[in-house]
Amino acid sequence: MTALLEVEGLRAGYGSLPALHGVSFAVEAGTTAAIFGLNGAGKTTTVNTIAGLLATWSGEVRLDGEPISGLPADEVVRHGVSLSPEGRRVFADLSVRTNLELGSWTCRSDLSRNLDRVFHYFPRLKERSGQLAGTLSGGEQQMLAIGRALMSSPRLLLIDEASLGLSPLLAQTVFEIVAEITRDGTTVLIVEQNIGVLPYADQAVLLEKGVVTYDGVASHLMESSHLRESYLG
Ligand SMILES: Nc1ncnc2c1ncn2[C@@H]1O[C@H](COP(=O)(O)OP(=O)(O)OP(=O)(O)O)[C@@H](O)[C@H]1O
Ligand SMILES: [Mg+2]
Repeated sequence: MTALLEVEGLRAGYGSLPALHGVSFAVEAGTTAAIFGLNGAGKTTTVNTIAGLLATWSGEVRLDGEPISGLPADEVVRHGVSLSPEGRRVFADLSVRTNLELGSWTCRSDLSRNLDRVFHYFPRLKERSGQLAGTLSGGEQQMLAIGRALMSSPRLLLIDEASLGLSPLLAQTVFEIVAEITRDGTTVLIVEQNIGVLPYADQAVLLEKGVVTYDGVASHLMESSHLRESYLG
């Protein structure tokens, strides 16, 4: 298998303060990888840097072997990387359907096919396509954020905090849909605090204070002393 995403020696931060001190990992095409870590570990910084929303200080991000670090965020989307951001950030005053349409700005010609695909994963969004996004429930807004990111037909889908604020049942439903999205050919990198995602992930990456301390098979993470000592407490 080839790595779709390669992150090598990534350093990034805010002002003069580093948040990532040389983060390296790779995600194979057609798999789901989950990034875990305590609050402030650098998870959001990692996915935002991959997405081109934050500058890379040093190191490199490659997609299918091609460097994408240093590209502006819209170019990163054109290369096939899409982000469902932390806090969802749906456009509250626009309808569900308009939110989704805005996600497809890189591939207008595929709009109806991509809408069908999103409505297949999230039938609830189809039922509520005319509703203002700001009036959706938290879980529905999460579905919309993921759906909007899918509208650009990404090769790599980044999801930051998929299950935050969702009931255990809905979180599991979202994880099942993420697994289906992966099976359908989109590689997924998901930031997650909920270890309930582990059965749905192939790979787990544990970040601690801007450093990777575990990178391996997801189902082995539970046995890792790192997880017990540094994550579960
Ligand atoms: N906009 C910012 N300005 C300054 N420092 C920031 C900014 N965003 C994040 N940081 C700092 O960078 C470090 C990593 O933050 P990051 O948001 O990547 O963590 P996280 O793992 O996503 O945490 P959480 O689980 O709380 O979302 C933290 O020390 C944080 O305080
Ligand atoms: Mg975060």
